[in-house]
Amino acid sequence: MPATVIVGAQWGDEGKGKIVDLLAQDADLVCRYQGGPNAGHTIVVAGETYKIRQIPSGIVAGKPSAIGAGCVVDPEVLTTELDELEARGHATEGVLFVSGNAHLVMPWHVALDGARERRLGRLQIGTTRRGIGPAYADKATRIGIRVQDLLDPKILRQKLELAVAEKNVWLERVYEVEAFDVEDVVASYLVFAARLGPYVADTSLLVDRALRRAESVLFEGAQGTLLDLDHGTYPFVTSSSPIAAGAAVSFGIGPNRIDEVVGVAKAYVTRVGEGPFPSEIEGPANDRVRELGQEFGTVTGRERRCGWLDLVALRFAVRVNGITSLALTKLDVLSGFEELPVCVRYRLPDDSETEEFPAHQSDFHHCRPVFEALPGWGEEIAESLPSAAQAYVEFVERALGVPIALVGTGAAREHVLALP
Ligand code: IMP
Repeated sequence: MPATVIVGAQWGDEGKGKIVDLLAQDADLVCRYQGGPNAGHTIVVAGETYKIRQIPSGIVAGKPSAIGAGCVVDPEVLTTELDELEARGHATEGVLFVSGNAHLVMPWHVALDGARERRLGRLQIGTTRRGIGPAYADKATRIGIRVQDLLDPKILRQKLELAVAEKNVWLERVYEVEAFDVEDVVASYLVFAARLGPYVADTSLLVDRALRRAESVLFEGAQGTLLDLDHGTYPFVTSSSPIAAGAAVSFGIGPNRIDEVVGVAKAYVTRVGEGPFPSEIEGPANDRVRELGQEFGTVTGRERRCGWLDLVALRFAVRVNGITSLALTKLDVLSGFEELPVCVRYRLPDDSETEEFPAHQSDFHHCRPVFEALPGWGEEIAESLPSAAQAYVEFVERALGVPIALVGTGAAREHVLALP
């Protein structure tokens, strides 16, 4: 299908990078539509591991890749990633295209993110401290600095001077942390501007033309549905729109241009950062899943909290994204458990039960999971699924009414089974 969105169906870290990498083999253009260096994609190709945060993971497959207006771009991170990719033999110029309308993550955004989290103490969100919230806040307040501002040194200096003057007041007087020296900032940003200038492009036109030529365009989401600013578990969310519709907004195309939405979900669930998590595993099985699944953050190295598969949350993801098929990743991690609890409903504070994700935060914060235990399998998953694993997959398909097209069975690119 020409236009496919790949969206995280849980709280991020579902293994989207690997699915994008796989589907990118047949794509003509790969487009990252939101977030910034808070994302961390790990891709293993031919025994080589790539950890990328800012650039769409399609670049590893050598595909033309674009960063949309809905993203925030940290020029320092982007420059480092470009240098690393080039050092490993990947072409970048004429391959990567960055929307001039995307906003920049500035060093004060990073400083403010950390300072705010520290000030919140026990009430912190558990952000990645990469400056994401403050960068999107400046965008919404209309005082942000955009990628296209890098193209004009005069405008760039003007905007940097204004921003530094304002942010230094916050940093010094409110958060009592170090201020920035405007000349230092200008000097380093002129260097970034020279490096990044050739990548700035009209990404809306780029996508429109590709679709008109009936080329295959893959839209790659970062984070996940439950971290969506509007539809996720606010305030424990990120500051952008990971849901599938975010792709159309970010790239300036009509929503009717999107043909397929592939939801990526782990065969269990993980969450980093704070916030309610109904199907969180109690006891030693939590550590066991974390160890088996190597559930530690790519960006922050934090331990991820682990939960059993949550069909209530997944049903919600199918609804808000319009998911047409699912990729169920890391099914191999569940091998060896005698039984596998799956959360099929939530019990609400008034003791009623629901299959639908609660619209009210208090219901969600206080709900308890209702589990159904499915039989586990002892065998390792290789060329085909053991019958209990097949039954697990079919149970999920029946509950959600969506086909599972791909199953992840290991870290490497080839460890994916396409289901008939
Ligand atoms: P922020 O995006 O850094 O502002 O963090 C906000 C919330 O989103 C926190 O709970 C983070 O742990 C979470 N988050 C941000 N990026 C990712 C990701 O790539 N995977 C999983 N969680 C993420």
